[in-house]
Amino acid sequence: MALPYPSWTQQGESHVGKYTGHAGPGKQLYYRYCWGCHGFRGDGNGENWIPSGSYPYQPYLNIQPRNFVTATFKCRSTPTGTLPTDEDLYNTLVRGINNSNMPSWITLTGQNRADLVAFIKTLSERWKNDKAGTPINVPAEPALTLDSIKHGKELFTKLECWKCHGPEGRGDGPSASTLTDSNDQPIRPYNFSGGSRFKCGTSNSDLYKIFMTGVDGTPMPSFADVVKPEEAWDLVHYLRTLQVYHKTPELTLWMGSKEGAAIVSQLRVSGTATGSGIK
Ligand code: HEC
Ligand code: HEC
Repeated sequence: MALPYPSWTQQGESHVGKYTGHAGPGKQLYYRYCWGCHGFRGDGNGENWIPSGSYPYQPYLNIQPRNFVTATFKCRSTPTGTLPTDEDLYNTLVRGINNSNMPSWITLTGQNRADLVAFIKTLSERWKNDKAGTPINVPAEPALTLDSIKHGKELFTKLECWKCHGPEGRGDGPSASTLTDSNDQPIRPYNFSGGSRFKCGTSNSDLYKIFMTGVDGTPMPSFADVVKPEEAWDLVHYLRTLQVYHKTPELTLWMGSKEGAAIVSQLRVSGTATGSGIK
């Protein structure tokens, strides 16, 4: 049977470091590895999301695979509302998406991943009329101090991160159970206490980018308009102390203070793993 491949999927390139990706080979990889989840047309309605023959359907996955036609992406170095860079998409393929069914594609070659990025971009009209946003500037990380952590803690309260993420960062704030994503599916705020990795990276500068660009398609907003760069680093330092089982310089310094030691030991005693985008 001749399947009608979407007709706009023929051309397109990506540029990531030394790689130039091509949509042609990317398309072959897509229809081998990705469409079972992301769907034949890339609309996120693959069979793993809507299993055939089951009605009302029971998805195998807890978060709907990304819809490449609407092209709203979570992991971007670019401002909220804009398209990600080729490198952002490539990095997601390397990493996979923690706390979701999106695997890491580290087993493919770099060229394969660049080809896949080129192909994904042919699935949406958005890439025809628009280009990637300009990556936000991430200033060099200032020295870690106790004052920085404390100021970050104040910001967490003032900016009302706790309303979703919970006062202790467990993903259980008063709004947590009411949140839905752009597919009308329930979405849980990230639970800091159980984790070390994020959906969109692992490093302090990844963390900086997450709340300064927002997790588009979810209620997690961008704080770029309200948080100054030096404040953002304070927030990063504090958020690290909420990951109470992840040994970081921030956690070590925090636990060296009387206030921090008391808070962390309390968090560790009553820790439960909830949240993190899993319903
Ligand atoms: C087992 C199912 C599954 C397979 C197979 C899969 N994905 Fe995904 N993918 C997902 C899910 C689920 C998400 C959404 C995760 C989330 O929103 O937290 C996702 C998200 C993505 C994203 C969005 C990243 C962002 O910033 O929003 C990209 C890009 C992506 N996948 C590419 C691919 C490519 C390319 C392949 C094939 C090489 C692939 N996926 C195979 C399940 C899958
Ligand atoms: C309106 C609710 C809401 C508010 C307010 C909120 N968040 Fe979130 N946040 C979320 C949700 C929902 C997610 C999960 C998104 C997902 O899994 O795709 C999230 C995810 C995150 C993540 C993890 C993203 C990743 O890559 O895994 C970080 C870090 C984060 N939020 C930090 C913050 C900070 C810092 C603040 C305050 C400055 C804040 N959030 C305020 C709802 C919120």
